[in-house]
Amino acid sequence: MINVKQKIANEIAKVIHINEKELETYIEIPKDIKNGDYAFPCFRLAKELKKSPQQIANEIKEKMQIDGIILEKIEALGGYLNLYINKQMLTQELLKEIAKEEEYGKSKIGEGKNIIIDYSAPNIAKPFHIGHLRSTVIGGALYNIYKYLGYHTIGINHLGDYGTQFGKLIEGYKLWGEEYDIEENPINELTKIYIRINQACKEDENILNACRDNFKKLEEGDAYCTQLWEKFKTLSLKEFQKVYDLLGSKFDSWNGEAFYSDKMPEVMKILEKTGRLVKSQGAKIIDLEEQGINTPCIIEKSNGSSTYATRDLAAILYRTRTYDFDKALYLTSYEQVLHFKQVFEVAKLLGLDEKYTKGLHHIPFGMVLLPTGKMSTREGNIVKLEELLREAIQRAEKVIEKKNPDLENKKEVARKVGIGAVIFNDLANSRVKDEVFEWNQILNFQGETGPYIQYTYVRTKSVLEKAGGLSKVEEIKPEKLLDEYSQAIIKLMYSFEDILVQVTDKEEPSILARYLIDLAKAFSSFYNENKIITEDKELQDARVYLTASVGEVLRKGASLLGVEMPDKM
Ligand code: ARG
Repeated sequence: MINVKQKIANEIAKVIHINEKELETYIEIPKDIKNGDYAFPCFRLAKELKKSPQQIANEIKEKMQIDGIILEKIEALGGYLNLYINKQMLTQELLKEIAKEEEYGKSKIGEGKNIIIDYSAPNIAKPFHIGHLRSTVIGGALYNIYKYLGYHTIGINHLGDYGTQFGKLIEGYKLWGEEYDIEENPINELTKIYIRINQACKEDENILNACRDNFKKLEEGDAYCTQLWEKFKTLSLKEFQKVYDLLGSKFDSWNGEAFYSDKMPEVMKILEKTGRLVKSQGAKIIDLEEQGINTPCIIEKSNGSSTYATRDLAAILYRTRTYDFDKALYLTSYEQVLHFKQVFEVAKLLGLDEKYTKGLHHIPFGMVLLPTGKMSTREGNIVKLEELLREAIQRAEKVIEKKNPDLENKKEVARKVGIGAVIFNDLANSRVKDEVFEWNQILNFQGETGPYIQYTYVRTKSVLEKAGGLSKVEEIKPEKLLDEYSQAIIKLMYSFEDILVQVTDKEEPSILARYLIDLAKAFSSFYNENKIITEDKELQDARVYLTASVGEVLRKGASLLGVEMPDKM
């Protein structure tokens, strides 16, 4: 596939001798198509080249080669170079690409590279709440997209299955276990215990100490504590699995924090040797002041137990050896920015190859806030994910019942629409933005939503059905697709792979979500303005073929985001 932007940058570089990667970032898509399909502003170059922007534009226009890059003309105007695509050639290229690849847009650019995605990672014995939805959905989308681009991806669910909270739960269970039916309703009941024990800890220092002690004992392999911990974990995982089944989430590894229990002594040993580990109020810490981080990283608590950070350090060591990663992405809310800064800084002391320490990236996302403020398990004001997803399906069911009561497989369609709405809503906004959780917005089936993409896809399907099938790509006449509406679609379709690359460059799945909205909108205009079923057989064949291709890209793009398509709705 020809990457037009890249080619343009490449040719311009030959004229003005500036790094083509840099030039590529200058290229814009003009708002008004009259100013070309691409524009290259010359203003930023004026100083360096000691010429006026217009002079630079003129010079490039004069000397630049445009053969073989799907352009038909260039103009130098007002300090810009405006570049116009050759529609017929672009159409031909696109059809050729669609015919060539068994899966359109799939690529091998990531071949030979290992990417770890550390995502979802809910905490055992706590509800899987809507905050974890974001990690699960964004991480899952990145996983799929990296994989589609040929990377070897490893999805890790670094479960929160260790830490002082287990000491608390064990204590609570010891004190009041009989009052709660944790077999029947594990997470609910364990949450109640958790809230109650937290209250008790606030009131009584001795109870808090007993909790800390329990976790210490758990780390030392105490039989009673271990047995309870295992019970909590098994029951919780069973509940989490219900959510994963609804979302369609899968992981290559479920190694949570506890997995690193026996791998921390090595970290301690290495850190001891660096001389950077110091005692502070009984705890062992690493001061990071000189590295520009004001809060030290606590490596071992004063009672000798490990910390969240130490377990992450052990995980880094393990992952370098097990996966030889080129990049490791950690998906959590921005509340953990400091944690990862500290951990990645301390990781530089572990004696690892620079390749690994450079490959560690925290990918933060915004919080899901309730209209009343932040959610907290301890306060008990959280929206549980399973409830949310079931509610979404039910609401979708109601809409279907009203609009299309005779639809086949109503339940299945409702599942795809309800879940699709929630996932898409989560991915449609740039990830760092906070989101206020509103039922009406999350389940809105109109506007720029998941159901809108699904609806557009279903429309392409019904066009195909009406047309009675698809002709071979070799038989399609590109000259039948030169109108403005077809061309808008063709340009978008042609950029699909580039969009996927942009997602991985910025770790931002919303780029793909926005793209799908644009494509669905472009198809709606095409559909409204162009008769698809017409007398002119060649015209019809071309339009039907384009329709089917749009459907395929919508389906593929959505599935990369984790959204499934119904055939009818
Ligand atoms: N369990 C953590 C939480 O819910 C997220 C873990 C993220 N991954 C990591 N390697 N620290 O906040």
